[in-house]
Amino acid sequence: MSRSFEEALAYSQRWIEILNKSALSEREAKQIINESKTNFAEHYNKGWLEYRKSVTEAGDWAATEWTGSGALFRDVLGREYIDCLGGYGLLDLGWSHPEVISAVRAQLAYRTPMPSQELIDPLRGVLARLLALITPGDIKYSFFAADGTEAIEGAIKLAKMYTRRAGFITAVQAFHGKTMGSLSMIGKADFREPVGILYGGPVYHVPFGDADAVERQLDICRRVGIGIAAVLMEPIQGEAGAIVPPDDFWPRLREMTKHYGVLLIADEVQTGMGRTGKLWGVDHWNVAPDILALGKALGGGVMPVSAFCSTEDIWQVMMYPNPFIHTTTTGGGALACSAAIAAIQVTLRDQLWEQAAAKGDYLIPKLKDLATRYPQIYDQGYDHLGITGRGLLIGMHFKDAAVGYKVAAGLFRRGVLVAGTLVSAHTIRIEPPLVITYEQIDQVLNRLSDTLAEVSRTL
Ligand SMILES: Cc1ncc(COP(=O)(O)O)c(C=O)c1O
Repeated sequence: MSRSFEEALAYSQRWIEILNKSALSEREAKQIINESKTNFAEHYNKGWLEYRKSVTEAGDWAATEWTGSGALFRDVLGREYIDCLGGYGLLDLGWSHPEVISAVRAQLAYRTPMPSQELIDPLRGVLARLLALITPGDIKYSFFAADGTEAIEGAIKLAKMYTRRAGFITAVQAFHGKTMGSLSMIGKADFREPVGILYGGPVYHVPFGDADAVERQLDICRRVGIGIAAVLMEPIQGEAGAIVPPDDFWPRLREMTKHYGVLLIADEVQTGMGRTGKLWGVDHWNVAPDILALGKALGGGVMPVSAFCSTEDIWQVMMYPNPFIHTTTTGGGALACSAAIAAIQVTLRDQLWEQAAAKGDYLIPKLKDLATRYPQIYDQGYDHLGITGRGLLIGMHFKDAAVGYKVAAGLFRRGVLVAGTLVSAHTIRIEPPLVITYEQIDQVLNRLSDTLAEVSRTL
């Protein structure tokens, strides 16, 4: 594209005017859809647009998200959907939670949105103290960034610096993010293979939930002299399709990492903040990790903010001899922290994890009932009749990706947003905002029932 400051000035001006409009005409809305499609195709990622568009089967007028509240959102044409995806765990508090918005607005209206870098900004300290108060075990210190992958990068670096070892043990099918360090830890060839050589240290992948396999790997590494810094796991695997490990898995991880003198890192980026029916995924098994990483819902679905947190002992290497060993210019800015402080307040006050537990207990058996009625549609190879998960992190496992795709598309036509796990519709996640109402859950179940009846007729 040829360079044009004039065009950029006029185009940004036009969009600032649109941003300031509280309502749009239908003509303007359609114009925005067309423009968004073109911009995505020409300047963002054509493949992504094609994938999204085909999943939604939206035809000419691809759904362009615009506003939302609770578990409902509307596209730019005003069509309403029930959100059963929750931004992959971002929207635990629902769309545009008013108290989070109000905290961010107040910070923006009365004080500075970003830190000077040199002085001490109060909100970062407040958020770190809050996390020390609500995280398990002796966790006391935190570092803030914008997204989950940065939190994992920080956790990896901290574990390396503290132990002075380079090896990690993670799980097959694990997901930890897509920057180079976290990408090295994930257990999916789709994302690793095209990139080639990744992290320099050794990374061993073992089957998720198999404590014996982790122990075997720790033992082998000790015997051959390969230093392991940490075992890194999701409490419940999210992107793998809401896979819950056996009950002895996390307690055994805790025991064996202590025995072998390696750190235990819990990736709570998706499971944290109440998603699985406890405030933290590891709370299901009363395990306190050495390092905990979180993100997504921490910003209340309003601002990007993530963190990695650890104990005073481990944090020494972040403070001495060089307190600037790990920094970021924008991470943990005042707007992000104000959103996270409000998100924590709402989560604790409304006991959102209890809501997730109760709603999951209501929804999961009903999903299982539906799955038993359609054995030709669901993958019965899984325990639990094609349905896995806990709280409101739920996976529906289908015979194959084509069937899963049909179910996702059928639901979307009926006004329910779901999506496959990354790049495959074989497993569809049900991951609504934790504030979804029981009425909305019933509507989802009715629409799923209609969709399954329709899909079964086409098989
Ligand atoms: C468990 C887990 N860790 C890390 C990440 C990466 O987070 P982000 O996409 O914010 O970088 C994700 C994202 O889905 C995740 O589910």
